[in-house]
Amino acid sequence: MSALRIAVVPGDGIGIEVIAEAVRVLEAVSAASGRTIRLTPFPWGADHYLKTGVTLPPDALEMLQEGFDAILLGAMGDPRVPDNRHAADILLGLRFRLDLYVNYRPVHLFHEKLCPLKGRAPEDVDFEVFRENTEGLYVMMGGHLKKGTPDEVATEVDLNTRKGVERIIRHAFAHAKARGRTKVVMADKSNVLIHAHDLWQRVFKAVAAEYTGVEATHLYVDNLALQMVRDPGQFQVIVTSNMFGDIVTDLAAGLQGGLGMAASGNIHPGRLSLFEPVHGSAPKFAGKGVANPMGAILTAGLMLEHLGWTEEARRVERAVRWAVENDRTTPDIGGSLGTREVGEEITQRLRH
Ligand code: NAD
Ligand code: IPM
Ligand code: MN
Repeated sequence: MSALRIAVVPGDGIGIEVIAEAVRVLEAVSAASGRTIRLTPFPWGADHYLKTGVTLPPDALEMLQEGFDAILLGAMGDPRVPDNRHAADILLGLRFRLDLYVNYRPVHLFHEKLCPLKGRAPEDVDFEVFRENTEGLYVMMGGHLKKGTPDEVATEVDLNTRKGVERIIRHAFAHAKARGRTKVVMADKSNVLIHAHDLWQRVFKAVAAEYTGVEATHLYVDNLALQMVRDPGQFQVIVTSNMFGDIVTDLAAGLQGGLGMAASGNIHPGRLSLFEPVHGSAPKFAGKGVANPMGAILTAGLMLEHLGWTEEARRVERAVRWAVENDRTTPDIGGSLGTREVGEEITQRLRH
């Protein structure tokens, strides 16, 4: 069986600490399964940028596409780079230039003790968000006029193409159908964004008509936020735009126990894809060894699943569940262990 070739980009802050644990988990998976995973680190991030002036090297894209099966990334963000220039080039750059149009963010509650809502069991928080990942308010089109003067004008373009909207909506329905899910909710703000989200409305209706076995409903995104807190059990698959998806997946992470538990994949089906925890570099926790590595470890599991290592992916998820059930956790979810120790507990479990 052929080896997996993974490019590892820890990035900044706690990204470095949590990815170290995800790497240990992948090494344990590899040892236990007898299948090779080759992990190649890349130093791209704030330190590298500040030292060299390089964010993402010019040949990076070609090198990644030719030499790797997937990218595992930690987080980008450092107070020393206030304009976040390196994150724009590295993280958003890879999303856009690799055309990773699916931002897949599964939301699963592993134990009721992790949920901030009263009386919610794991079956009440069990859905997936599909966030459009290459358009919307993230295209960085716009500009300033009379910058720095009292008459300053600033614009940011919300770009939505039929092709872009259709492919993410279609992906959400296809995923629902393939996984036996029966409901897809599309969230927009078509009551105000009468041009861009009118496009979302029309495309959603057209694609939904092709999936007769799947119930298609619409919610305005503000109501979605309310419903996710009031009754998360009503959701199976949610599809939404780039910016709304960013916001509601932090809320969704809260339902699972916080950002430390949330995993994601930036995917172009059939092509090189990038996997990263939902959280950022959390500068206030950086270097303290307290960050929860479970989101990063579950992300490594998502990556294995995406690459067809289904049994290995299940084992990773089971090991994380075991650690949660047995309180082998960091303080953000009620435990008293450090990042390294949680990683060690999970890798030990995988070695069994
Ligand atoms: P953040 O996700 O870094 O942190 C928000 C809060 O969530 C933290 O203060 C902490 O309380 C909690 N948290 C996050 N991850 C955790 C973990 N693994 N364990 C325990 N607690 C955790 O978001 P922020 O503070 O808004 O942003 C910090 C920097 O990260 C910024 O520069 C931002 O742009 C960047 N960022 C990067 C990514 C990414 O690279 N994917 C994602 C989000 C934010
Ligand atoms: C995320 C992050 C990124 C985003 C930032 C760091 C650019 O918040 O992955 O959710 O907004 O997409
Ligand atoms: Mn975000």
